[in-house]
Amino acid sequence: MKAISIGLLGLGTVGSGVVRIVENHQDKLMHQIGCPVHIKKILVKDLSKERGVVVDRSLLTTDANDILENPEIDVVIEVMGGIEQTREYLLKAVRNKKHVVTANKDLMALYGSELLTEATANHCDLFYEASVAGGIPILRSLVEGLASDRITKMMGIVNGTTNFILTKMSKYGSPYEEVLKEAQELGYAESDPTADVEGLDAARKMAILATLGFSMNLDLDDVKVKGITEITEEDLDYSKKLGYTMKLIGIASRCGEKVEVSVQPTLLPETHPLASVNDEYNAVYVYGEAVGETMFYGPGAGSLPTATAVVSDLVGVMKNMRLGVNGRSVVAPQYKKNLKDASEIFSKYFVRLHVKDEVGVFANITSIFSEHGVSFEKILQLPLKQKDLAEIVLVTHKASLKDYEEILQKLNDYEMVKVIKSTYRVEGDGAL
Ligand code: NAP
Ligand code: HSE
Repeated sequence: MKAISIGLLGLGTVGSGVVRIVENHQDKLMHQIGCPVHIKKILVKDLSKERGVVVDRSLLTTDANDILENPEIDVVIEVMGGIEQTREYLLKAVRNKKHVVTANKDLMALYGSELLTEATANHCDLFYEASVAGGIPILRSLVEGLASDRITKMMGIVNGTTNFILTKMSKYGSPYEEVLKEAQELGYAESDPTADVEGLDAARKMAILATLGFSMNLDLDDVKVKGITEITEEDLDYSKKLGYTMKLIGIASRCGEKVEVSVQPTLLPETHPLASVNDEYNAVYVYGEAVGETMFYGPGAGSLPTATAVVSDLVGVMKNMRLGVNGRSVVAPQYKKNLKDASEIFSKYFVRLHVKDEVGVFANITSIFSEHGVSFEKILQLPLKQKDLAEIVLVTHKASLKDYEEILQKLNDYEMVKVIKSTYRVEGDGAL
């Protein structure tokens, strides 16, 4: 077999890792696929920029067509990010019969179905393992390792940046802005970190996981999202006092034919297996009816971990080339989208309120909850500096989202409640 030529779109954090792995693991790649792999061209924005890896300057270009229209290039690796322009590039790549490997969850969550259809129509592979949970081979595990099972729940930490931030804030009291900056410097955050901290990056990953795991086309809009930007030092202190750890948790669960997908800050009991997943690490629990509980753990962001997933996809493409079976691995979704409504989604909740410190207020608040059949697991009431106010922290037993939203509305309307400071989902003891 002739040498395989790669066109790389992007030479940032992940692109540099790809160059390193292709160079340093050439022997292993040769052994797996039986021919050498060369990086032929690399698209960048700025030709004069200092790079984190040594590359021959003649490989760099600012013209995407040097790759997309280059007949010598077999595989396009997209690690530049972005959505609309990148979609055009990848459509052009597969129409020009080039296989594609991408790490781009933003693109796959929005246009995955279109791109996969176009790739298949052109007998091309389009693999995207690195788009979810960095170095953890979670997508391949879902579609290959667990192909025979019916998956009922996936739950995990799928954003490295926010996990890094929450770990440093909770453990060392580090200020949010300072830790976010550190996560950017370490190459974990997106070029615009808003997507990380607002939960959108994790939501995109959960949409991809749920689509594959439940064999149902789920869109980004189907994912309920709340990020970490409103989490305060006080919330983290109360979490600790009550025996919890705060994590940004993605959940996709199926009951019968109906599914729910969400990303939100969640209080985990300190004994919960996900509570000890720290820094940029990710972990995903997958429950299958037959297999039971499985857990996947590893670095969720960063140059070499992510590039490992990218280059492993490249090996997959090359193995398919040798067998002549490219473009045949996509399986159409088996089920129609069927989302749970708010009365079918259950959880425990933490709520922190500032209330007027007067006789009867606490009783009235508890009666708002009991009108909806919701009782408490934990209760704290503390005086505040401002004399006529008290802080109440409650953890409920399980309630439907519908009941809980109505309770919040009633609390908002009750004149003795000065403000609802914060509210979070609370997970039970086990992973289930
Ligand atoms: P990055 O460090 O910002 O690198 C992006 C690279 O693409 C840079 O080399 C940049 O060129 C080039 N580029 C961007 N827009 C371009 C354009 N319009 N034309 C030409 N070149 C362009 O990003 P990254 O962290 O490597 O992430 C890349 C992709 O991988 C993203 O989709 C991201 O979501 C995904 N991902 C990242 C991680 C991670 O840990 N970082 C993990 C999993 C997935 P210049 O260098 O000249 O500016
Ligand atoms: N910004 C992403 C994260 C990169 O922090 O998880 C990995 O997808």
